[in-house]
Amino acid sequence: MQPLWIGTSWKMNKTLAEAREWTSALVGHLDGRAPEGVQPFVIPSFTATTTVAQILGEDSPVLLGVQNAHWEDAGAWTGEISVPQAKDAGAQIVEIGHSERREHFGETVETTRLKVAASLRHGLTPLLCIGESAEVKDAGGSSAFILEQARGALEGLTEEQVADVVIAYEPIWAIGEKGRPATVEELVEPFAALGDEYSGRVKGLLYGGSVNLENAADLLGIEHVTGLFVGRTAWKVEGYLELLRIG
Ligand code: G3P
Repeated sequence: MQPLWIGTSWKMNKTLAEAREWTSALVGHLDGRAPEGVQPFVIPSFTATTTVAQILGEDSPVLLGVQNAHWEDAGAWTGEISVPQAKDAGAQIVEIGHSERREHFGETVETTRLKVAASLRHGLTPLLCIGESAEVKDAGGSSAFILEQARGALEGLTEEQVADVVIAYEPIWAIGEKGRPATVEELVEPFAALGDEYSGRVKGLLYGGSVNLENAADLLGIEHVTGLFVGRTAWKVEGYLELLRIG
């Protein structure tokens, strides 16, 4: 049985003191063991990566990620970090292609493909985010759009490499303060499409976008969903612990 991946990205939030507080509380509650059948993960800002890594400690049941990494291993790329640097800082996951990076930082299907390959090359798990806009959804094109994003990013990989990838479907219209929670009905079709192609082939098929304590169990009940990728609800550690319990 694949574990349910339940994790959070802090996006551009938390000071080091806040990162310490959140992580220490998590470690204290878990006491060295993840809840049965759950794979927890946390993706802080770059500045907190090593701090969180140290608090989690070696052999932690909680995986640690970065929110982005460049496809080159080193070089003249001001403002970027590489996958080897992320690994050196303690990361095991590289988040790739979040819609905020596609919208504001020019991430494309091609750059996501390069970043997935770079992560796998260094033994890190790519967490590939895909998702359509409200316009695409309203035009009835959600499934085709997200499949194109996923296929493009995973192009050229062997089956063995695909098995190391986690995919998070995050419809843009459901993310953050500007979004609204998706209903289960709205997610059935996109997950059927993703499941048809990737169920059993990838490490996880996650849902993200306005996950909260009220809708988490229902979202996990959707066919092919094997985890949740959470923003706001998990930024308070009590919220995250509750989500782990629901998982
Ligand atoms: O990366 C997770 C995120 O995009 C979802 O954010 O705040 O809508 O749960 P939120």
